[in-house]
This record gives sequence, C-alpha cells and structure tokens, in this order.
Amino acid sequence: MSKAKFLSIRLQTSTKQILTVSKAILKKQISRYPAFLEDFEQRFARYTDKQYGLSFCNGTSAIEASMFAANIGEGDEVIVPSCTFHASIDPILNLGATPVFADVDQSFTICPVDIAKKITPRTKAIVVVHLFGIPANMGSILEVIKGRNITLIEDASHAHGARWGDRLCGGIGDFGAFSLQGSKTVAGGEGGIVVTNDFSDYIRMSMWGHFNRHAELFSKIDADEFYFTGVGYKRRMHPISALLADADLDHLESVNQIKRKYASILDRELAEIKGIEVAKPSPEAVRGSFYQGYPIRVTRENVSAEQAITALKSVGIAAIPYPFALHHKLPVYTDKVFRQALIRQQPVENVTPSPFLLPVTENLKEQLLLLSPKYLISLDKKSLKQLKNTLKSL
Ligand SMILES: Cc1ncc(COP(=O)(O)O)c(C=O)c1O
Repeated sequence: MSKAKFLSIRLQTSTKQILTVSKAILKKQISRYPAFLEDFEQRFARYTDKQYGLSFCNGTSAIEASMFAANIGEGDEVIVPSCTFHASIDPILNLGATPVFADVDQSFTICPVDIAKKITPRTKAIVVVHLFGIPANMGSILEVIKGRNITLIEDASHAHGARWGDRLCGGIGDFGAFSLQGSKTVAGGEGGIVVTNDFSDYIRMSMWGHFNRHAELFSKIDADEFYFTGVGYKRRMHPISALLADADLDHLESVNQIKRKYASILDRELAEIKGIEVAKPSPEAVRGSFYQGYPIRVTRENVSAEQAITALKSVGIAAIPYPFALHHKLPVYTDKVFRQALIRQQPVENVTPSPFLLPVTENLKEQLLLLSPKYLISLDKKSLKQLKNTLKSL
C-alpha cells in the first residue's frame, strides 16, 4: 500500500515537473532569477520557519556561503564531525580556517559532550550534520553553546523534513544548509539552499555567490565597497532546479511519513537482535529524508559490516557500507606539508594537525551498513523475517 502511495506521489511530482519546466522553457525563463525561483526560496525559508532562503548551485556552496557570511577565516576553528560527507568540511579549509573534529554518539551524529571538550577561544562555529536524516541532539548542542559567541550551522543535506521536537532541522541554527542534489528527498538535480533569519547574513551570502543580485542592498549592511571591487561570483542555482525541487517539496511530509513508518518497524524489530544496534537518537528527534537508507551497526564480535553485507546480498537484500572517509585521518589534516601545498593561503604555523581520537567514528567505519532505501517504502513480513534471520545468523 505504501509503495503504491509512494509511486503515485512520484507520478504526481514528475507530471508537475514536466509541466512547470516546459512552461519555463517556452517562456525562456532558464537563467538568473525568474519569479518562480524566488518563490521557491521563500517557500523553503517559510517551511523551515526562517525569514530568508538563498539558493546555490549545490549544497557544498550553500555550506560555504554560510561560513563566508559568518566571517569564518584564517585563525578560526570550526568544530565538525568526521563522520560526514566531505562537503561539510572542505569549505572550512577553503576559507582558510581549521576543522576540529568531534566524535559522534549513539545517534551516529555529532556528540554534544565531545563538542564541549573541543571548544577553545578560537572556536568560531560548529557544523552539525543530521546524518542519514537522523537529527543531532540539538537540545544539548544549544545548551553547550549558550552564552558563547559561536555560530551554529546545520548541514541538513540528508534531513529534509526531519524535526527536533516541533522545529524543522535546518531551521534551528543560525544557518541551515541543504543539498538539493538529485538523490536527495527534495531534489533539484544539482542545487542547494541556505535559510537564515539574519538579513545581513542573507546579503553577505548573496555577495559571495549571486553576482549583482542584491547590489542595491549592500549599503544597508555596510558593504557598499564590495560592489566596486569587481568581484562577481556566480554560484547560483539553475532555475529549472528550483522547479524540480519545488514539486518534491509538495509531498515531502507524505514521503517522510511512509519512510518513518518502516524505520520505526526496523528500529523495533532489529533492536532485539544480539550484536546488532540501530541508531538511538534523542526522544525529541523525528527522522526525515532518510538519505542513503536505514543505518545498522554490526557490533557482534568478529563480524564486520562487510561480512554482514555479503550475507545480506546472498539472500537478495540490498545493503551498502558506510560511504564516507575517515576525514580526520586524511593527509590534508595530518600532514602539514601536504596541507600547505593544497591550501596555499594557510601559513604552515597556523596548521595544527592533531591526532584526533574519535573512537565511535572509527568503529562506525567498520561496523556500519546501510540497508537500501527501498526497504523504507515497502517491507513485507517475509522480507523482514529474512532480514532478521540473516542478521541473527551472522
Ligand atoms: C552531509 C552532506 N553535506 C553536504 C553535501 C553537499 O551537497 P552537494 O552534493 O549538493 O554539494 C552532501 C552531499 O551529498 C552531504 O551528504
């Protein structure tokens, strides 16, 4: 039944996309800022309960625009999980700042206790990633940064429609950045968007990637001189992408409801298997988007996630390994010379390669597997039984 509903949503969405895109092509509204692109930005901002929304060519640029607006630069530290896609981290380097890696906790998202340990007088911002659509512990994170001058950036690229209590993920921090890349639940093909409540941050982000769009507003944020520098970056989203993403937004909550239903069945049924762990987010966390599928941790002794994946595949159950690098172990973070060669603007004395100890993240790399997202759209009793039996027999 859910699968039929899901397919019907897909059909409605594609039909709307074909019609709106065709109309835009006929009207030659295929570049710059047609009204429907601005409508999408405002709709997305309203959806997350923020005042301003600004689209970008991808999620990576959306994250970097937030960091630029937050004035992150040389000498600053930004706390970030290593357990993420590199796009949450690379913009920190690109702006000349230093990523400081924090471990994750049993929710597979950044650990508030470890954040507290990593804060120094140089901490300028924290990037919280709601990985796989699992909301990070926003209550504790807000508590940790309370009274401190630290910018909170949410990377909600995996978490469209996920909630912390009654607040949308991406709508809680100073900035909420979303990828709208083609495999995301709100998909523009390629694209990204940032939401914020701060007008001057909104305009600064525009300066960074929307050449000439808001130049008449620069004087309002005391950045008038920027216009005359001649700098004019274009990192804007293709208008067609806005139309594609807008149609997905119509049905986001219905899609999330279907996936939540199956995720909660898996949570309940798999939690009882010895040597298998599922994510344990805080009770306030309501998952959304479910990017990349349903995560399972194999903690049984002498059994790796890789072995579990092979066993699952042998009975026709689709699963993939944890798809990210252990970023804190990459040469750009561990090798000064390599780092300086890559990031020319960073003087070597400011680079502090650290032996980051992230035990949970490192274990996850070995233990985590992702069950195909298709099991969050339809999971019959027979398949569930087979899944459980396979995991029990590892
Ligand atoms: C956690 C995370 N953040 C940011 C991004 C960047 O998005 P994009 O590919 O649109 O640049 C991704 C992409 O998948 C992601 O997984």
